[in-house]
Amino acid sequence: MKKILHIISSPRGDASISTQLGYAIVEKIKEANPGSTVNETNLVKKQLPHLEEAQLVSFFTPADTRTAEHLEAIKNSDDAISDLMEADIIVIDTPLYNFGIPSGLKAWVDHIARAGVTFSYDANGPKGLVEGKKVYVALASGGIYSDGPMQGYDFVAPYLKSVLGFLGMKDLTVFRAEGTSYPDLKNQALQKAIDSVTL
Ligand SMILES: Cc1cc2nc3c(=O)[nH]c(=O)nc-3n(C[C@H](O)[C@H](O)[C@H](O)COP(=O)(O)O)c2cc1C
Repeated sequence: MKKILHIISSPRGDASISTQLGYAIVEKIKEANPGSTVNETNLVKKQLPHLEEAQLVSFFTPADTRTAEHLEAIKNSDDAISDLMEADIIVIDTPLYNFGIPSGLKAWVDHIARAGVTFSYDANGPKGLVEGKKVYVALASGGIYSDGPMQGYDFVAPYLKSVLGFLGMKDLTVFRAEGTSYPDLKNQALQKAIDSVTL
């Protein structure tokens, strides 16, 4: 039995390829781990704000001296980190937008990456504090980035591996529904991606 955190970031609702792929991954995890629970976070329906001054001031105020205003300013971050820490498995659905991730997902990353809470520095350098998690990424892209002439533009998978790995989530697997903009590939892209899912 696993606790699954399912992060959805495409605005396309049920039509979203990354979301459909993410649900397929969640179903496979549930089949393999009967009794698993799912905490679904839809970053489009419940958008996290961009980082702002009050939040950054609060981040850098020692926890035992934070005022009610400070606590309010970091509530979104505290809640997102609490959901993350509780999960055994994180499934992140993301479309590829302008060679990056959608801004809603970037906001989530900004809220969970917190010095002293999800990472720290000591004499040996940085240390990720979000340990013992398995991460699956359901990535949908109009083009093809795993191979071929656009491979050098494959920034999303390395970025998520780097930033989540920095926070301690080093066990990350990416499943790709690629070529959704190609007329001859788009109809098979999702099924091909679902078929590629192995846990
Ligand atoms: C705003 C926007 C930007 C996009 N940028 C890219 C891009 O840079 N590269 C690419 O291959 N596809 C790009 N696409 C295509 C999407 O990655 C593709 O349609 C994907 O399947 C969308 O995923 P979804 O169905 O989960 O929303 C873009 C689509 C939109 C709407």
